[in-house]
Amino acid sequence: MKNKLIVALDTDDGEEIDWITEMLWNEVSWVKIGFQAYTTVGNGIFAWMRERKFKTFLDLKFHDIPNTVARDVGTMTRHGANMINMHASGGVDMMQAARISADEAAKEAGITRPKLLGVTILTSIDEQGFQSDFGSEREITDQVIYLAEQAKEAGLDGVVASPLEIEPIRKACGDKFLIVTPGIRPKWAEIGDQRRRTTPAEAINRGADFLVVGRPIIEDDNPSEAAERILEEMKGA
Ligand code: C5P
Repeated sequence: MKNKLIVALDTDDGEEIDWITEMLWNEVSWVKIGFQAYTTVGNGIFAWMRERKFKTFLDLKFHDIPNTVARDVGTMTRHGANMINMHASGGVDMMQAARISADEAAKEAGITRPKLLGVTILTSIDEQGFQSDFGSEREITDQVIYLAEQAKEAGLDGVVASPLEIEPIRKACGDKFLIVTPGIRPKWAEIGDQRRRTTPAEAINRGADFLVVGRPIIEDDNPSEAAERILEEMKGA
């Protein structure tokens, strides 16, 4: 389960990143680097996390024209991120260009290509918000499946989706397609802005490959103990 939990280092405080990762290195294999951690530490974050034996999921959710995203993803591949995401709604051409660029950059650098993921519909959006804000007549699950199929067609390794959509994505995209799920809340944690969510055990039962957890761990007085409790729940699934 250690390999399935990704801790979101959502902070712009370098010292906090230092002490949280110092506490977690024994518990967790993956950390997620978002905009705050990336802009605070810079590209050195990849080597720093590698020294602490973490793999890195770079969560900058690229969304731009194919040429730009291809360059972004190529650059971050060279810097050593192990997983990179982009918005699947950027389109098949954009995702395909990113895949080709990551392949080339990894080959040139002699490193393993990072896993590439398409972000479907953010877990903070519920059915009502989706229909009003996006003017969509589709249900969220149908849109998530549609975007997952596009990500697969473009050659991405998987998607970021809510734990509520795991089963239909599996059915549509197969067992090897990675499903990474934020929107994880143990019963004892505050819900915050996560709307399409489940507990850690339920996400595992539904078949998630990776669970992304931020605030319930990093805002706990004892992040290591909070991670341990979540891992226990995952093991008990
Ligand atoms: O603190 P919390 O556990 O809600 O953190 C979830 C993390 O996953 C955040 O860093 C958020 O940016 C990220 N995320 C998400 N929904 C997505 C993609 C990423 O919540 N669809």
